[in-house]
Amino acid sequence: MTWRKISPPDSMSDEDRTQLIHEFLFTKWLGHKIIFLDTVDSTNTECKKRSLNEKEGIVILSEEQTAGRGRLGREWVSPKGKGIWMSLLLKPGLPSDKIPQTTLVAAASVCTALEAELKEFSLPVEVKWPNDILLDGRKVGGILTEMQVNGEKVQSVIVGIGLNVNLRREDFPPMLKDQATSLFLATGRVWERERLIAVVLNSFESLYDNFSRTGELGESLTICRLKSAVIGRQVILSNNGTEQQAEVLSLGSQGELLVRLENGMVKTVISGEISLKML
Ligand code: BTN
Repeated sequence: MTWRKISPPDSMSDEDRTQLIHEFLFTKWLGHKIIFLDTVDSTNTECKKRSLNEKEGIVILSEEQTAGRGRLGREWVSPKGKGIWMSLLLKPGLPSDKIPQTTLVAAASVCTALEAELKEFSLPVEVKWPNDILLDGRKVGGILTEMQVNGEKVQSVIVGIGLNVNLRREDFPPMLKDQATSLFLATGRVWERERLIAVVLNSFESLYDNFSRTGELGESLTICRLKSAVIGRQVILSNNGTEQQAEVLSLGSQGELLVRLENGMVKTVISGEISLKML
């Protein structure tokens, strides 16, 4: 392996960053156009604004987000120059009820990319259904999928990916310090974000091409099952203030969670409004 010095975020021009990403990018269509922003409220919001005028495959990256969003209306902390805050614009010809599964495609691709990049560290990389990526048991990344529909037709899908790359402990707010991590915190070294971006995009394109062509999760599902942090575990399912304990049995073919409740009933859970706490 060759090592090179990682340039501090501020010292690189957009052209340098594009060139560096393209050095590692092997995609056919994803990420051929990359838009770099210094600051933005949310890359997902920005991507949505541009979605009518841009083709499938553009990627929006921002050094920081001032109003980064997570699932269920949560805030996503996105400090300047420390992470990958990016949104991918997709225009699949799939029905709207299939679109939430794109989150699992993205989770599988981030998980695969991190495993490959981190192989010398033997740290577990897992998917906490439906959209959290865990590194050594703590949250290192998250996915937020949003879609625009016109009547029945899906106009565009935006997959937002947040990855805590070089954040230090003090970059996290107090309430996240024990639950969140970054590649830097887990491995003790600074990571080149451009290379990671390319590796995630490479992996995403191949899994997504299969999903959008067949409408089936295929390999993404295999990866999410294999790397699941929750299968076989007791969890608390929360929905609108109600909580239920359950054992997670598996993921179904549509990416839904199959659980056994305390009364023995087996139930299917779709991601929607559900949040999941591991016991
Ligand atoms: C979650 O864990 O709840 C999802 C987090 C998703 C964060 C990413 S960062 C890039 C994109 N822009 C956003 O505002 N959110 C997503």
